Amino acid sequence: MRIADFALERYFARWEFAVRHLLCASDVQGYPMAELLDLADDETRGLWEGLQLGYTESTGHPLLRREIASLYETVEPDEMLTFAGAEEAIFCLLNVSLEPGDHAIVTWPGYQSLFEVARAAGADVTLHELHESDGWALDLDRLRRQLTPATRLIVVNLPHNPTGMLPDRATFDELVAIADEAGARLLVDEVYRGLELDDADRLPAGVDASRGGVSLGVMSKAYAMAGLRIGWLASHDRELLTRVAAFKDYTTICSSAPSEVLSIVALRARDQVLARSRRIVAGHLERLDGFFEDWADRFSWVRPRAGSIGFPRLTVPGVRIDDWAAALVEAEGVLLLPASQFGHPGNHFRLGFGRTDLPEALDRLEAYAARTLR
Ligand SMILES: Cc1ncc(COP(=O)(O)O)c(C=O)c1O
Repeated sequence: MRIADFALERYFARWEFAVRHLLCASDVQGYPMAELLDLADDETRGLWEGLQLGYTESTGHPLLRREIASLYETVEPDEMLTFAGAEEAIFCLLNVSLEPGDHAIVTWPGYQSLFEVARAAGADVTLHELHESDGWALDLDRLRRQLTPATRLIVVNLPHNPTGMLPDRATFDELVAIADEAGARLLVDEVYRGLELDDADRLPAGVDASRGGVSLGVMSKAYAMAGLRIGWLASHDRELLTRVAAFKDYTTICSSAPSEVLSIVALRARDQVLARSRRIVAGHLERLDGFFEDWADRFSWVRPRAGSIGFPRLTVPGVRIDDWAAALVEAEGVLLLPASQFGHPGNHFRLGFGRTDLPEALDRLEAYAARTLR
C-alpha cells in the first residue's frame, strides 16, 4: 500500500513534545488518572483491581460495548467494534468499504486520513470544500452535484476539525436524505460530539439518523482521554462490521485491556467527564472572544459552534501564517498549526482551546502579536 505522509502528524512529531504551549491541540486537557479511578463503581473497581493483562475480545469488552451502545438511540452492543483510537477505525473502515472504481466525497479541509486512506484504497475522492466566507457551512446543492453513480461513501466530520462548524438540524437531515437517496453510506466522524457549546445544537448520531449511517467515536476528544487509545465504529450493517473486524486482525487484533476498563469507568461517569470538558472549552472560548474582538483588524474568526478547535485567519497584508507561526514558536514556545498542514492555501491556522494552559499561551501570543503585528 502506498499512502501520502500524514502532514499534521509529521508536524506534531516534530513539535508536540518540544514546545511550552500547544495552542493547536485538538483534544481536551487529559483527564487525571487518579480522578478517573475515583469515579469507578463497585463493578468497575473490581474489574480494574482484578485485571489480568491478557488479550481481550477482538470486538471489544462486552461491558464497554454496552456502554458505547447506550450513547446511541438505536444501537445494540453487537452493532459496534472498538479500535485503537478513531484513527485505526478510519483505516479499517475505509479499506474495507472502498475499492478501485468507487467514488467517495469527503469534507475538506479536514482530518487527512478521512480522504487519504480512501485514496490509498483506490477510490476516486472528491473533496467537498468548506469556505470561510460561508461560515465553513456544508453546501448541499454542491454536494448533490458532486454525486456520481459510483458514489459509495460520503464522509463528514461533525463537529468539524479544524473549523468548529456544526450544521443545524435541518441541514443535517437533508444531508442524511441525500446519502440515503444516493444509496451511499454516510460516515459521520463524531469525535467532537458532546462538545456543543449549546446542548440544544447536538445533532443525532449518524448511525441513529440513517440505516446506512456509520458513527465514529473516540475517548480522545470530548472525553479528554486520548491516552487510552480507544475508539469505535457503530453501524447497523453487521456484514460490514464483520468485514471490518476481519481487517482489524491485521492491525491491532484487540484493544488494550487496561484502556478498555478505564473507558468503561469513564463512560459510566460520562456526565461528569463531559461536564468538565465543556467547562474547559466554554471558558476558553469566552477568553478567545475577547482576544478576537480586540484584534479584529488583524485576525478573522468564525466562532466555533462546537468542539475544541477553530480556524482563524491572519489578515495582515504581507504576513504569511507559516512564517509568523514559525517565529512565534521560536520566540514564545507557543505552537499554532498553519493551514498548509491541511494542504489549505489560506492564511488560516488551527487554534485549539481544550488545554488548560490556554490563558498563558494566549497572553504570550498576544504579547508577540503586539510586538510584530501593530
Ligand atoms: C476529526 C478527527 N477524526 C479522527 C481523529 C483521530 O482520533 P484519535 O487520534 O483519537 O485516533 C482525530 C484526531 O485529531 C480527528 O480530529
